[in-house]
Amino acid sequence: MTDFDPYTIAARFGAGETDAQPIAPPIYQSSTFWSADADAFLESATKARHTGFYTRYGNPTVRLFEDAVAQLEGGEAAMAFGSGMAATTGAVLSLAAPGGHVVAQSSLYAGVTSLLRDIAPRFGVSVDFFEQTDVEAFAAALKPETKLVVLESPANPLLGVTDIASIAAHAKANGEAVVMVDNTIATPINQRPLMLGADLVMHSATKALGGHADLLGGVLVGSTALIERIWHTAYLFGAVFDPFAAWLALRGLRTLPMRVERHNRTALAVAERLERHPRVAAVHYPGLRSHPQHNLAAHQLKPGAGSLLSFEVADGLAAAETVLSSLEIAHRSASFGSFSSLAVHPAAMWAASMNEAELVAAGVAPGLIRLGVGFEDPDVIAGDIERGLAKL
Ligand SMILES: Cc1ncc(COP(=O)(O)O)c(C=O)c1O
Repeated sequence: MTDFDPYTIAARFGAGETDAQPIAPPIYQSSTFWSADADAFLESATKARHTGFYTRYGNPTVRLFEDAVAQLEGGEAAMAFGSGMAATTGAVLSLAAPGGHVVAQSSLYAGVTSLLRDIAPRFGVSVDFFEQTDVEAFAAALKPETKLVVLESPANPLLGVTDIASIAAHAKANGEAVVMVDNTIATPINQRPLMLGADLVMHSATKALGGHADLLGGVLVGSTALIERIWHTAYLFGAVFDPFAAWLALRGLRTLPMRVERHNRTALAVAERLERHPRVAAVHYPGLRSHPQHNLAAHQLKPGAGSLLSFEVADGLAAAETVLSSLEIAHRSASFGSFSSLAVHPAAMWAASMNEAELVAAGVAPGLIRLGVGFEDPDVIAGDIERGLAKL
C-alpha cells in the first residue's frame, strides 16, 4: 500500500469540528451520528428525541425547524414529519389506536377525511363527524373513550370557521381527549390555537410555512409531554422530515410574517372584488363581512384570514372549467400558500376521494373554484379571473 489512500481519505474527511459560526444554520444532512464512547452512545440511543443518534429519531436541522414552529405557535415542543398527512397519521395512530374514539369536523382536507373514514377504522379507531359550526353536535358526539378531536379552521373548501375555544372547553369538561387543530390555512401569524385552549397544532409545512412550493413537510406542536408521547409511536412509522427539506423550511420561516401579511391583504382584496361580480354566486373568505362567521373569524383570526378563498361560478361545472382554462396568472394546481397563485376545481379534484353525496355534503358546489393567492398584484389576480368570467 502507498501512503496515498484515497479510500480512507474519502471515508474520513469532514468528521472533525469547525470553529466557524455561520449566520445561516448548517444542514446536518447525515443519516447517523457517532458517539465518543459507550456511555454517550447508550444515552443517545435511549433518550427520546435525541438529535445525535440517528435521523429518524431526531436531527439537529430538523430540531431547529421544530423549535422555530413551536415558538411561533406558543407551544413547548414540536415533531416534524415528511408531509402534513404523515403528521396527521402520526397523531391519530399514536393517540387514538386501538379502541379509541375520534370526533372530527366534517369539513376537512379531503385526505384527512379519507384517513379518518376509511383507514383509521382498520386500526381499531372509531370516528364520528360533526358540522364544524355546531358546538352542541360536537358536545353530543363526545364519549368517555374519545381520545382525539380533529379540527381544521379555516377549513377546506368553504373556509368555515370552528369556534376552537368553545370546542376545547367542551372537550376538557368531557375528559382527556386531545384537541388537534389543523392550522395550515390560518398560519401561526393569523391564529394560535394553543392560546385558544387546543392541545395540538398540525401544519402541512408544504404550504405557507415552507412557502416556496419546493418541499413536502408536516409538523405537530404541543406540550413536551404530548410530543414525546406521540414521538414514542410515530418515529417507528418512519415518515420523518428530511434535513434538507427542514433547512428549506427554516429558510421559508424567515419570511413567513411578511409573506402572510401580503397574502392576507391580497386575498381580502380579490375576495371583495369577486363578490361584486355578477357571474359569481358566492365568495367564501372569513375576512369578508358577508362570511357567516365573520365575528368569530375577526376574533380568532388576527391580523388576517390567510391566502385561501373559494368562489362559486354561477353557471356550474362547465362554467368553472371555462374560467379555469382561461387563467393566465393563477396556475391550475393543488396546494396554496406559495409565491404563485394556484387555483383548483374541487369538484373535479376530489372526485377520486369523495363521492357526489359527500361532495355536496361538504358544500362543494360543481362551480366552486378554490384560489390560493400568491404575491402577484391583487388587481392582476382579480383581473385574470374577471377575463375568464367574461367568457361565460
Ligand atoms: C389544510 C390541509 N391539511 C393537511 C394537508 C395535507 O398536507 P400534505 O399534502 O403536506 O400531506 C393539506 C394538503 O393539501 C391541507 O390543505
